[in-house]
Amino acid sequence: MRPSEELLRALVDRVSGHVLRPPATTDPVIRYATPATIADAFAASVGLSFAANEAAHSDDALVAATDEVFRWSVHTSHPSFVNQNFAGPDPIGVLGDWIGAALNTTGATYEVAPVFTLMERAVLDKLASLAGFPSPAGDADPPAGMFCPGGSVGLLFALQLARYRLDPDIIDRGSDGRPVAVFVSESGHYSTKKAAVLLGLGLDAVVTVPTDADGAMRPDALAAEIATASAAGRRPLAVIATAGTTVTCAFDPLVAIAEICADDDIWLHVDGAYGGSALFSPTQRRRLDGLERADSFVWDLHKMMGMTQQCSVLLVREPSRLEPCFATRADYLFQPDKRNAELDPGDRTFQCGRRVDVMKLWLTWKAHGDAGFAARVDHAIEVADHVRARIAASDGHFAPVVAGDFTNICLLWVPPELRPLTLGDLDDHTRSRLHALGPRVKIRMQDEGTALMGVQPVHGINCFRLLFMNPRVERADADSLLDLIDRYATREWVS
Ligand SMILES: Cc1ncc(COP(=O)(O)O)c(C=O)c1O
Repeated sequence: MRPSEELLRALVDRVSGHVLRPPATTDPVIRYATPATIADAFAASVGLSFAANEAAHSDDALVAATDEVFRWSVHTSHPSFVNQNFAGPDPIGVLGDWIGAALNTTGATYEVAPVFTLMERAVLDKLASLAGFPSPAGDADPPAGMFCPGGSVGLLFALQLARYRLDPDIIDRGSDGRPVAVFVSESGHYSTKKAAVLLGLGLDAVVTVPTDADGAMRPDALAAEIATASAAGRRPLAVIATAGTTVTCAFDPLVAIAEICADDDIWLHVDGAYGGSALFSPTQRRRLDGLERADSFVWDLHKMMGMTQQCSVLLVREPSRLEPCFATRADYLFQPDKRNAELDPGDRTFQCGRRVDVMKLWLTWKAHGDAGFAARVDHAIEVADHVRARIAASDGHFAPVVAGDFTNICLLWVPPELRPLTLGDLDDHTRSRLHALGPRVKIRMQDEGTALMGVQPVHGINCFRLLFMNPRVERADADSLLDLIDRYATREWVS
């Protein structure tokens, strides 16, 4: 049965209303509800669960159910959503995503995705040029990498590339069981551990490298860990350097790390899922100096650049490595005798069906231009700088937990009697009260729908983490967030 045009128009109205008029400060960022409340809310329309023999529902019921989806969801476009290293989407990105969805194809072959195959090449090559990776000599060369479903998956693929370079027989024979070591900083993302497990390397293969106080990998410690692992008979497989760590947004020193990797011929993967977007800004790209020497690089455009989840690329300095590492040459998809088969992207990755995430990025980038993308990154840092300045001028009211100078801030609210705060001077009781304060404040904010911000331990104590990802967030919004923390924390500390 075809859906009625009225239903489709009503749903389009709901989406376009949300995209064109995203929630404002006066709206709740969330209506926090228990699972039972959410399920009850759907009971009046179509029900959340499915009956054994589910009937088709009326247009009105479906529209009512859609309203419940919007009602109970977290509004990541809200100026007080600073909870994650992504936030509300760029409206053009949403529509680009829709275009890709409307055309519903897979990025596996030129045959079914001619435009998207060419767009991928254009976007990947442009991203690679920002990363300082060599440009393909011509159309006969493969594009500079692949789109992939997220930074974690990109890292998994990168580790497989590293294994293939270390041991080319791994494709046919599988692992020879000799132990390897993968090095990542103690602030690195958990995807390294998950990838090690999935690839059969085991958690024992992951060597955690100490960081400095801001969370950046210490090159001297890396060199020492490599020497220790090698002496213990473990072959160094890869170093995962992070450009923008998840919590403190530290940038590992890539020049020094690349030097160590070159000396020992170790695959260098840079996890730029979060901080890779600094490359768009002429004043910020210095943070990734040395990236051009990496072997692979993951970059999430769904984090700082407002692409809808997900939009990630894995760039490879020698892209010709992808095909032999991943190809299985299925003749029911990659028939060599069809037209433009040489352009098929599908055998250069693990996936078969692949969303055409390039569409939204291509359209958004064309709409904003390089300068617009740079301005987005610069704006986020300006707002974060403003918060840092307010903390510094707060007479000890707030305390930074790490110095930081990118787009996120980790801070403590300091009770009046503890100002100025010296964490080392706190007795155990006071420290654990302060540690418990953040989660309590967060619950109050959720209850009242006023803000959603990160709260998690840094240096062993829960702090507030504000991530500025949304270009709608201005200095005044950031001021309001600090005022909110102050208001709730003052109330919770004495209660
Ligand atoms: C530094 C870093 N690396 C990797 C990832 C994982 O990326 P994804 O969520 O796209 O898998 C994240 C996610 O927050 C991250 O912060």
